[in-house]
Amino acid sequence: MRGEAGSRGCEILCDSYHIRKGKPKLKGLPASFGTEEEVETLEVVCVDRELRLKVILSYSVFEKSDMIARNVRLINEGEEHLRIEKVLSACIDMDDEEFEMVTLAGGWARERRLQRRRLTYGKQMVSSSRGESSHQEHPFLALVTPETTYQTGCVYAMNFVYSGNFVAEAELNQHDAVRMVLGISGEDFCWNLRGGEEFQAPEALLTFSDEGFGKMSRSFHDFYRNHMIRSPYLHKKRPVLINNWEATYFDFDTEKLLDIAREAKKAGIEMLVMDDGWFGKRNNDDSSLGDWNVNKEKITGGLKYLVEQVREIGMEFGIWFEPEMISPDSNLYREHPEWAIHIPGRKATESRAQYVLDLSNPEVVDYAYECVAKILRSAPISYVKWDMNRQLCDLGSSYLDRVSQQELFHRYVLGLYEMQERLVNEFPELLLENCSSGGGRFDAGMLYYSPQIWCSDDTDAVERLSIQEGTALLYPLSTMGAHVSDCPNHMTGRITSFETRGHVALFGTFGYELDITKIPEQDRKMIPSQVEMYHKYNDLVREGDYYRIASYRENHKYDCFLVAAKDKSEALMTFVQVQCIPNFHGKKIRLQGLDEKALYRLEGTEESFTGEMLMKGGFVIDFMQGDAVSRLYHFVANF
Ligand code: DGJ
Repeated sequence: MRGEAGSRGCEILCDSYHIRKGKPKLKGLPASFGTEEEVETLEVVCVDRELRLKVILSYSVFEKSDMIARNVRLINEGEEHLRIEKVLSACIDMDDEEFEMVTLAGGWARERRLQRRRLTYGKQMVSSSRGESSHQEHPFLALVTPETTYQTGCVYAMNFVYSGNFVAEAELNQHDAVRMVLGISGEDFCWNLRGGEEFQAPEALLTFSDEGFGKMSRSFHDFYRNHMIRSPYLHKKRPVLINNWEATYFDFDTEKLLDIAREAKKAGIEMLVMDDGWFGKRNNDDSSLGDWNVNKEKITGGLKYLVEQVREIGMEFGIWFEPEMISPDSNLYREHPEWAIHIPGRKATESRAQYVLDLSNPEVVDYAYECVAKILRSAPISYVKWDMNRQLCDLGSSYLDRVSQQELFHRYVLGLYEMQERLVNEFPELLLENCSSGGGRFDAGMLYYSPQIWCSDDTDAVERLSIQEGTALLYPLSTMGAHVSDCPNHMTGRITSFETRGHVALFGTFGYELDITKIPEQDRKMIPSQVEMYHKYNDLVREGDYYRIASYRENHKYDCFLVAAKDKSEALMTFVQVQCIPNFHGKKIRLQGLDEKALYRLEGTEESFTGEMLMKGGFVIDFMQGDAVSRLYHFVANF
């Protein structure tokens, strides 16, 4: 904290505390919630008398969920103009247990790969200064004891309920003590806290597991399902959708979309999603972001007509937006160049031929929101994919004054949250899917607004194994946008069987992203049974407990995971053999999450096993020929 004298320092001493039932909301920010029976909040009030600064540290304890939600509020009770240069949301000091540091790292089309390294002396961190939680790093940090696996070991984990810049840092110091912290990144951040003003820092979630990553994942999954996601779709099957992005890219019109819809309907698919390219003069990614008026040359008959036709075919309709962006080649930019984030006097860097709108400006937030809302008010649209295809740089706002420029990153995120809050309030029945060039903003903050997020632009079934493994380390399977796409895969050129693509997508939201009018007949014929498979298993996948059994990322041969019903009455296990090993007679897999005493029948066979046999003795996967081949095993208990 920097005061008017120019020196930096802060001495906050504990003044009082109180404990209350329930948990207050965080103004303008996503945050966990719970009833008075589910959560209790300790507020520690600290004061720096010199600065006349009050700091309230809140700890909300969700005892049944093994989770503590921590946030910090700063209140300037004096008249001095204070400047916050660093404010973190959580800090834990511990003794070293020979910790290893676990994070999620990646890139576009390679999101959230698990990364593990020995914690050594000094500070080690991951962070984002890209304006979003990012493809590259993730606002998550765990310190684990060396023996930690999915089933064993101690895990101390933190996850951030925030979608902008962050820092997650661990330090092993000279006393062999360890500190781990998580919060908004201090890079290019400075918040003016004038007399009488408050600053609310985002929420951090803290959990501990003494049964390895598996228990940690299940704690986060349950917590997000019970205390973060508000959507009415949370506990519902999502309609099986077909998205036209990988089918047509920008090259489509009303007739093409209706052809896809008719064929999709025959196969049992329930919703058509029109992706990028329906507005302005957008026939490639060079133009029109900001001009959210329907391109009548492509969407002949207009949007309402298209939506009605799709509904007449018997499907719901969804639409794509990228509301936070502005193309230099757009009417909006010609009218309001000052609405783009840029440094005055310099040409801003274009990425995917676009700039980012200055969401610190309430007028811009209103405009961008109204563009989306106007379209949604004009036709019965059931679903929105909210995309964001570039990261922030050249930070400068023509709305903010000189001393407030370093507030832009955080104000941008607040503007985004405000837009999404308005959207879910005005259209409570809308199914919202967030997206950012694939999974660039897959974080707990966005889950507060949308029950699902597009996991990655990489739809290759093999690549998805690691992406979905990393994502499921923290987030419920029901939140992971996953589609069956065409082969050779557009990203990798890899060919996998249609069956395997279906099995991998089943462990997410499940849908299709291909031109159903053009795919091979034998693939198209498989769709009705895949849709049936989704309807049969989605309740279990969406609501059950997730157990990771083997990781292709680690063994380079096969992947195996399982979802067990909460009452252990059934379990669905997926095995994907990525590489065939010749002259190999079978692979023994030990299941998890079953009732030891129950007798489980393997669906489609006469075979039964006790839970104990399956978990301790193991289940033999018979030899399969071929690469990227998969099997589903459904075990049903005879209770
Ligand atoms: C990035 C998304 O991840 C894709 O699915 C697609 O919607 C494109 N943007 C469209 O521009």
